[in-house]
Amino acid sequence: MTDFISVLDRMIADRKKMTSPLYQTILAGKATERLLQGFVQHRWPIKSLWTRNILGIASNIDDYRIRRLLVENIYEEETGALSNSGRHLNTFADFGAAVGVTAEQLENAPIEPETAAVVTHNVRVCNSRESHFTSGVASVLLLMEGQPPIVDGAGVSMLSVMRDIYELPEKGYEFFVHHASADEGADAVSELEDEHAEAARDLLRRYCTTDLLKAQAVDALGKALELRHRHFDMILATSYDSAEPVFRHGAGQ
Ligand SMILES: [Fe+2]
Repeated sequence: MTDFISVLDRMIADRKKMTSPLYQTILAGKATERLLQGFVQHRWPIKSLWTRNILGIASNIDDYRIRRLLVENIYEEETGALSNSGRHLNTFADFGAAVGVTAEQLENAPIEPETAAVVTHNVRVCNSRESHFTSGVASVLLLMEGQPPIVDGAGVSMLSVMRDIYELPEKGYEFFVHHASADEGADAVSELEDEHAEAARDLLRRYCTTDLLKAQAVDALGKALELRHRHFDMILATSYDSAEPVFRHGAGQ
């Protein structure tokens, strides 16, 4: 059992975000305005569905304690009420605004095939009866909450690069203060995310108990990892040209 969960954790670590050229480019301080705008617009359709994906999982959980943890997680996501902030998705929109993406552009965010494939996978494993919800726990919930910090070898994080290199104002980088991105060293995943990842592992220990379910969960995670990296590669391929100037907030207008 522990072994099964450590297999999932290892799969996630082996293909963590920092293994993607997209994140490497952003962390290296080489992102252009068009890349950061494309990043926000292409990530948006997936991020917008996150809370509903997790609610789909929660509806299957008969264990009150674990269901309550998921509901609290989603309540905080949707309202920011537990941390006295705001809806988390709005802070991602604020990041978008800081790099020049308008609310109208987010409402009409492009859905490329690589994005649609991720969305379709997430809905299938979390919100449909086509697969067992434990596949959703492994390939959506654990993948997100168990994501290692996005930090490069020199200790640069999404937070520090947004603040110090791209010079975003505080409102523009607030999203990264709370999401696997803080820069107090390699263990800088927030306590909340640690707790959420532990809840996902609890769920798997409790409900992913047969060889078939375990195999399906491993399959689903493998597929999710493949699809998300294709989605990341699409963003870099369609939105990046290294000949364009590197983005600086407030420059060039
Ligand atoms: Fe969040």
